[in-house]
Amino acid sequence: MYATAAVMPGKGSLFELREVVLDEPRPDEVVVRVVASGICHTDLIVRDQWYPPEPPVVLGHEGAGVVERVGSDVASVRPGDRVAMSFAFCRGCRNCLLGRPAYCTDFFPRNFGGRRADGSATVRASDGSEINANFFGQSSFSTYVLAAEHTVVPLPNDLPLELAAPLGCGVQTGAGAVLNSLAPPAGGSIVVFGVGTVGLSAIMAADVAHCDPVIAVDLVPKRLALAAELGATHTFNGTTGGLAERIMEIAGGGIDFAVETTASPAVLRTAVDSLAFGGTCGVIGAAPIGTEVSLDMSALLFDRSVRGIVEGGSVPRLFIPRLIDLHRRGRFPFDRLIRTYPFEEINRAAEDSEKGVTVKPVVLM
Ligand SMILES: NC(=O)c1ccc[n+]([C@@H]2O[C@H](COP(=O)([O-])OP(=O)(O)OC[C@H]3O[C@@H](n4cnc5c(N)ncnc54)[C@H](O)[C@@H]3O)[C@@H](O)[C@H]2O)c1
Ligand SMILES: [Zn+2]
Ligand SMILES: [Zn+2]
Repeated sequence: MYATAAVMPGKGSLFELREVVLDEPRPDEVVVRVVASGICHTDLIVRDQWYPPEPPVVLGHEGAGVVERVGSDVASVRPGDRVAMSFAFCRGCRNCLLGRPAYCTDFFPRNFGGRRADGSATVRASDGSEINANFFGQSSFSTYVLAAEHTVVPLPNDLPLELAAPLGCGVQTGAGAVLNSLAPPAGGSIVVFGVGTVGLSAIMAADVAHCDPVIAVDLVPKRLALAAELGATHTFNGTTGGLAERIMEIAGGGIDFAVETTASPAVLRTAVDSLAFGGTCGVIGAAPIGTEVSLDMSALLFDRSVRGIVEGGSVPRLFIPRLIDLHRRGRFPFDRLIRTYPFEEINRAAEDSEKGVTVKPVVLM
């Protein structure tokens, strides 16, 4: 089956729309006609090869569309169903069995391996050569994709697909970090460092959880203004001097929860330095493998903790419907982050994200 995909031909290169050939669906796979795909910062760090898969590769991991075909064993969706796609997991390891698929011990090869788990390629160039794909089980920068059944999330008919797309990664990551992983009590204090898609989703979730105060930190004034509209009670430019002390003061002696989304070791240090006794810092920002950070060991003794969070600790088939419901009730207005672009303008969309012009670019196929 033919598709048009945005192929990344080399490290750091622009995306090029090319005709590609999809493999036949396996019994547990579906073919999805992609209608919309978000661009997440993680697509851009793979473009820059902080992480695999290597080029040539089809990226994209926030796809939403319509099921076109299903493999012989697929039972939970049918052709014509509208779905969002989310991350892949093995379903058999200890964490998957415990209902923690974001911590699947096979997470990295399944989502960053470029191939199916058995090593086979899902996408080929028109000359027959293999192209890395299967990114987060989908590679959604393509008009059609193959996805394993367990990675697709059925959607209600009235949700526009350009809204559904970013639920699969960025939005669920920020919201889930707060609502699933950190789970603050009402009145808990929280600071979010970096208010792009992930951070703003964390801010909206902190509002849902009745946190107070809710502090946003970023370098882009427009993003801070949006954070304030979406629930932040205080905002700071990241270059503010004595930032950790200012945050501690607002939170009455230290913050209960900090969320790091900038992938900067210096920012992580500030986040941990802002914590109250018993406070927790969630680490979401994806830094290059091997990046080190220095922390004050003695400060950690006072029941402070630092924990990594993947995909908001979500079970996508449970959490994405919950976010859609919160959105429908006006409590989680993540539509305000989105700006759409034609698929042909995917490079402009990525550039707008990096320049801070657009929070969540979504390309329309
Ligand atoms: N752990 C996960 O499961 C997971 C999932 C999705 C994304 N991510 C990662 O999360 C991070 C955020 O993703 P995103 O799509 O929201 O990215 P984004 O680029 O939209 O947002 C990052 C924000 O951080 C701000 N920032 C950068 N440096 C800063 C500093 N020194 N001080 C304050 N603010 C600063 C930027 O202005 C921007 O608004 C990325 O590293 C991405 O790769 C991780
Ligand atoms: Zn697993
Ligand atoms: Zn992502």
